[in-house]
Amino acid sequence: MNKTILSVLKSIEEYSKNHSDVFPISFDQGNFLAELITSNKASMCLELGVSHGYSTIFQAHALKGKGKLIAIEMNSAKIELATKNLKKCELLDVVDIKWGSAQKIIPKLNEMFDIVFMDHLKDQYVNCFDLLFDKIKINGIIVADNMLSHQEECLPYQDYVRSHPDFVSFLVPLGNGFELSIRKQ
Ligand SMILES: C[S@@+](CC[C@H](N)C(=O)[O-])C[C@H]1O[C@@H](n2cnc3c(N)ncnc32)[C@H](O)[C@@H]1O
Repeated sequence: MNKTILSVLKSIEEYSKNHSDVFPISFDQGNFLAELITSNKASMCLELGVSHGYSTIFQAHALKGKGKLIAIEMNSAKIELATKNLKKCELLDVVDIKWGSAQKIIPKLNEMFDIVFMDHLKDQYVNCFDLLFDKIKINGIIVADNMLSHQEECLPYQDYVRSHPDFVSFLVPLGNGFELSIRKQ
């Protein structure tokens, strides 16, 4: 990552320390997502919940020149900020930001995804998983955040995905806690 990208990431981190409406993942979680994309040679990814674009930047950087990220966000002011941040990082060409609710947009997507990152509302994870799971390639991965930071709220999702016959699912105890679910059939 170049100096500009690191400074944009730093500015989002600093802003989030004083404002309670940003909620970025941790730097380590961002690197983990990027590494998942690179090591799986992912070319088509999806993100639910962009906020100011912190996690989007890590994914877009890993996909630059190799693929595309569709990123869904329902708050238009946040889309404006994320767009500015991605532009500064010269990553806007990698990302197709869609404004609206994930539940309305997912059914309209025709792509098959290598990796999906869910980081919107925890009580919508199960519903979005249902809308998504047949759009995941075999050996594709769904990553869901907040398993450790919001354990109780995320338990229904964890139980649901772990009992799904097509997926194997593990907790990755980084930052807020990722549930990593791989489609096996
Ligand atoms: C935790 S923040 C995302 C943080 C971001 N992934 C990062 O690491 O920088 C959650 C975001 O999801 C958005 N959101 C919540 N429910 C949504 C929905 N149903 N569809 C789309 N976006 C949603 C919120 O507006 C908020 O910006």
